[in-house]
Amino acid sequence: MARVLVLYYTRSKNTKKMADMIASGIQQAGVEAVVKDICETSAEKMLDYEGIVIGSPTYYGAPAYQVKQFLDESVVYHGRLAGKVGGAFASSANIAGGNETTILALINAFLVHGMIVTGLATGDHYGPVAINSPDTRCKQICTEYGAKLGNLVKTLYP
Ligand SMILES: Cc1cc2nc3c(=O)[nH]c(=O)nc-3n(C[C@H](O)[C@H](O)[C@H](O)COP(=O)(O)O)c2cc1C
Repeated sequence: MARVLVLYYTRSKNTKKMADMIASGIQQAGVEAVVKDICETSAEKMLDYEGIVIGSPTYYGAPAYQVKQFLDESVVYHGRLAGKVGGAFASSANIAGGNETTILALINAFLVHGMIVTGLATGDHYGPVAINSPDTRCKQICTEYGAKLGNLVKTLYP
C-alpha cells in the first residue's frame, strides 16, 4: 500500500501541529501517513515512501537551515525520488512574512528531484500556511491538502 512521509522542522510546535493535521487528511483519503521530525530521520528514508511532504517555519523568508541540509543530503538519492508526489507547508509569524517563498523553495527541490507537485485551486494555492499556531481555517486547509495529496498518491500508486 502507498505511504506518505510527512516531515517537519519546528522549534515551538506550530509546524508540527500542521504536520499532524496534514497527516490526518492523508489518512482520511485511506492512505497511511507517517509523521517525523526532519532532524530525527535521514534523507534515505524518503526512498520508502510514494509521497513526501515537508514543512518548515519561515526563517527570513526561507526554510530553516536544518530542512535545507536535509534536502542537500538527498542528492545521493538523485533520480530515485523521480515520480514520487511532493508537498510543502510553512508557518510564519506574519501574513506576508515569507511563508509562500518558503514553500516555493521546498517545491523547487521537489521539481529538481523530478517529483510530482500539486497546487490548490482554492485556499492556500502553493500549500498550507499558518500564522503562528494553526487556527481553524488552517486546520481545514491542511486536512483538504492532505486528502488531495493522499488521493493523488492513490491514483499514481494504486
Ligand atoms: C530565526 C527566525 C527567523 C524568522 N523569520 C521569519 C520571517 O522571515 N517571517 C515571518 O513571518 N516569521 C519569521 N519567524 C517566525 C517563525 O516563522 C514563526 O514563529 C513560526 O510559526 C515558528 O514555527 P515553529 O513553531 O514550528 O517553530 C522567524 C523566527 C525565527 C526564530
